[in-house]
Amino acid sequence: MRLLGIETSCDETAAGIVEDGRRVLCNIVHSQLETHARYGGVVPELAGREHIEKIYPIVEEALDAAGGLQSLNGVAVTRGPGLNGSLLVGLSFARALCLGAGLPLYAVNHLEGHLAALRLLEDEPEPPLVALLATGGHTALYYIRNWGDYETIGTTLDDAVGEAFDKVARLLGLGYPGGPAIESAAEGGDPEGFPFPIPMRGRGLDFSFSGLKTAVAVKAKKIGDAEVAKRRVDIAASFQRAAVKSLTEKLGAAMTEKGVGKCAIVGGVAANNELRRAVNELGEVYMPPPELCGDNGAMIAAAGFIVAERDGPAGLSVDAVPYLKLT
Ligand code: KG4
Ligand code: ZN
Repeated sequence: MRLLGIETSCDETAAGIVEDGRRVLCNIVHSQLETHARYGGVVPELAGREHIEKIYPIVEEALDAAGGLQSLNGVAVTRGPGLNGSLLVGLSFARALCLGAGLPLYAVNHLEGHLAALRLLEDEPEPPLVALLATGGHTALYYIRNWGDYETIGTTLDDAVGEAFDKVARLLGLGYPGGPAIESAAEGGDPEGFPFPIPMRGRGLDFSFSGLKTAVAVKAKKIGDAEVAKRRVDIAASFQRAAVKSLTEKLGAAMTEKGVGKCAIVGGVAANNELRRAVNELGEVYMPPPELCGDNGAMIAAAGFIVAERDGPAGLSVDAVPYLKLT
């Protein structure tokens, strides 16, 4: 069985084809980074317009790379969470494609897509396990009881961790997107240079990143622009250290609470090498390669297989749900 996965929830227009739930035949991603970089964040209106421009060529490229429309058994598409105008582009395209080609449509939760990226690993983890999902819009701990059966055991009380990376990068004048910018600046910095507090340390499984972001802003104001410019890399490294410690410690605590020896990290922030190094200490750890951490179509196709088995096809009138929850 072969599914096409379509993803347009934020600023990537993406299409991937997966066979039998596990084998990636192609994974084409168009990133809108250049469009949004000069605004320091995603501009929803521009994102929707660019999805409209790119959705057809990107899907066509995926189909050309892997056997064409005739070889498909269905289409999986993100229905939420995400930007309404962006979601509607992928969803409308998928609905039309399914109507025209007579294929079943599978409506996928973007967050389940990030988790399903784990099924595309050569050494796919066998549930139960605990997964940290860390993106620009979400930061959460999930207990994966089985594929398709999740429990939220921790979430952020305010900002998502990726959002904090983006905001701190903007504050330091490091550009957009903040995650990779902070990571590369931090490489030359001293992570002990500025001892920022580790958010919510030892206090349950929920996260909070807005206090850490504020601590960086307060420190930057106190030392002044000239000093910030001189010690930018140390601030970036110290912020990254605190954020990674918070994520890693809570993931470890979640494993203890659930009594499992296995864990995973997924989502855009899971591409961060300091995080990847730190979680390696936790035991049996699974993490998708960077190209499957950021938004992509293959992960949506992988989730489509779970949805097909659990929920079956959606009606062609299925709508976008910008604030869709996973559990
Ligand atoms: O999963 P994703 O591509 O989109 C969402 O669903 O939000 O995640 C994007 C987020 C952005 O906030 C970006 O700054 C962050 O992931 N990110 C990183 C890194 N690469 C991307 N954060 C830290 N380190 C990275 N290397
Ligand atoms: Zn995402």
